[in-house]
Amino acid sequence: MSIEKLETFLNIATEAAIAGGSKLMSYWGNLQDIQEKGSPGNLVTEADKAAEEAILKILQRYLPDHGILSEEAGKLGNITSRYLWAIDPLDGTTNFAHQYPFAASSVGLLIDGVPQVGAVFNPILDELFLAAKGLGATCNQKPISVSQTTTLQKSLVITGFAYDRRETTDNNYQEFCQMCHLTQGVRRSGSAALDLSSIAYGRADGYWERGLSPWDVVAGIVILEEAGGKVTAYNSSPFDLKSGKILATNGKIHDLMSKALIETPPLAYWDTANRLN
Ligand code: IPD
Ligand code: CA
Ligand code: CA
Repeated sequence: MSIEKLETFLNIATEAAIAGGSKLMSYWGNLQDIQEKGSPGNLVTEADKAAEEAILKILQRYLPDHGILSEEAGKLGNITSRYLWAIDPLDGTTNFAHQYPFAASSVGLLIDGVPQVGAVFNPILDELFLAAKGLGATCNQKPISVSQTTTLQKSLVITGFAYDRRETTDNNYQEFCQMCHLTQGVRRSGSAALDLSSIAYGRADGYWERGLSPWDVVAGIVILEEAGGKVTAYNSSPFDLKSGKILATNGKIHDLMSKALIETPPLAYWDTANRLN
């Protein structure tokens, strides 16, 4: 892939993410239509749909022969194309509905199944994260890179809980206890795209989560990898988009975090007697 072509795709992703984020802002603090879809607590609002329409309009205008996988609209265009856009028009819908200012439009491009372009825009805090493979990562046009933290004891880590958490025992509660115990702190920020971008920026050192979809992570993965970070499965094997389980770090705590996640004890372990050992 030529640099010129990647730059062109990055420019289109940028325009689309800004258009989506700007549309979100017109609903900020003014949401009338909030509905649940699928699992309890999984919200969709008029802002999700309007931002999606704005993003799709741009992608379809410039790249009518590409495929698109967008959270609300589903599969569109030529989905057998080697170019597949993964779109989350509003990542952080729960935050947005509560006016918690951590939400973004996320526009990512997979080329031959590999994340290669990412644009994540939080219009509330006015932060635009961009990256393309081999071209580095930026926030508001300034280069960003991951933290230098090398131990879990000194790490701030981030996670999230999927909407099906009440329906499965694989709900991340065990892992959450383990990481609370081993690190300086655990945050649940509510936007996977911004969580990955936060690791890229060096604001936190590691991130793990299960139950994610391609639109949650494709853009953020490119941003993090281009900022010097590492993305794998929990056990450090190559990340599989279909698995929905991601371990993403500054690279330096990757093996430690992987080990901690793999060796997570059952919840009963955190009963007082064990915890005080
Ligand atoms: C959600 C957010 C959240 C994560 C959930 C996602 P949505 O996306 O990224 O941080 O924990 O698993 O589904 O629903 O706000 O687009
Ligand atoms: Ca999402
Ligand atoms: Ca969403």
